Amino acid sequence: MNSLYTLSINDWHPSLDAQQSLAATQALESGQVLVLPQLPFVLAAHEQKFLDTRWSDQKSKNISLRPQANAVGTPFMKGAIGTELELAELRGMIQRYADNACSLVAALFPSYAKQLKVANTSYRPFEVENRVSSYRKDDTRLHADAFPSNPTQGTRLLRVFCNINPYGKPRVWRVGEPFADMAAKYLPQTRAMLPLQAWLMHNLGITKKRRTDYDHRMLQLHDLLKADMDYQRHAPQQQVDFMPGTTWVVYSDQVLHAAMSGQFMLEQTFHLPAEALYQPHTAPIHVLKSMQQSSF
Ligand SMILES: [Fe+2]
Repeated sequence: MNSLYTLSINDWHPSLDAQQSLAATQALESGQVLVLPQLPFVLAAHEQKFLDTRWSDQKSKNISLRPQANAVGTPFMKGAIGTELELAELRGMIQRYADNACSLVAALFPSYAKQLKVANTSYRPFEVENRVSSYRKDDTRLHADAFPSNPTQGTRLLRVFCNINPYGKPRVWRVGEPFADMAAKYLPQTRAMLPLQAWLMHNLGITKKRRTDYDHRMLQLHDLLKADMDYQRHAPQQQVDFMPGTTWVVYSDQVLHAAMSGQFMLEQTFHLPAEALYQPHTAPIHVLKSMQQSSF
């Protein structure tokens, strides 16, 4: 099995012809990981100091930047501590990564331009291996992204990652089988939402948007997969070592992934309606719909 599609791009503002963009779009939508091994995010001299966990407020595992600016025009950053000047520099570094990721995605997937929404950018300074969590939060187990408080209602999660480790340490992932193969095994074990459940969760503030039956099924697939250690060990999978200086792009709601080790990574999230895909039938919402007679 080969889940990787490698591109020799070495510029965050690449010029691709229509055929190259289409091939990249098709590979991404079919569930491959687009790997750009020659696309580093280079830190400026004054930014090198941020390769340290001391900038974290130790409450959240990531330092994140929201795309919306506050009243004085500064993007809102969460999870970091430092002086005003240091925080401005850190914000500048993360914002520059966000800008680069935007221009990269615009070049790779021009057909998404009109409907792609820029979401949060996150800087992850901690070592993956040291994180202790419940099995549901354990991202060293294969899963497709689905979040209890953040229903997507079928909107795609497109993510651009870059390993910025300064010590030569790879970001090690396991990449699993195609989404449809996993869903064929686990979807029959999922249940529909109870009447009023979505309304209640939304009105009590448990979910940020109304949880749809699609979200409910995706969360169950996420949890069933993580709870099944036999699946975790024996399901088809490949280990991928993303070396420092490597950028990679995936639909994280589709690609089964597990982050095994690594430290210092930047990540940009984008949202895209499933209907804006070049091949909408590849979206998890349509894969699940086609497997189930009931409508989501
Ligand atoms: Fe994930």
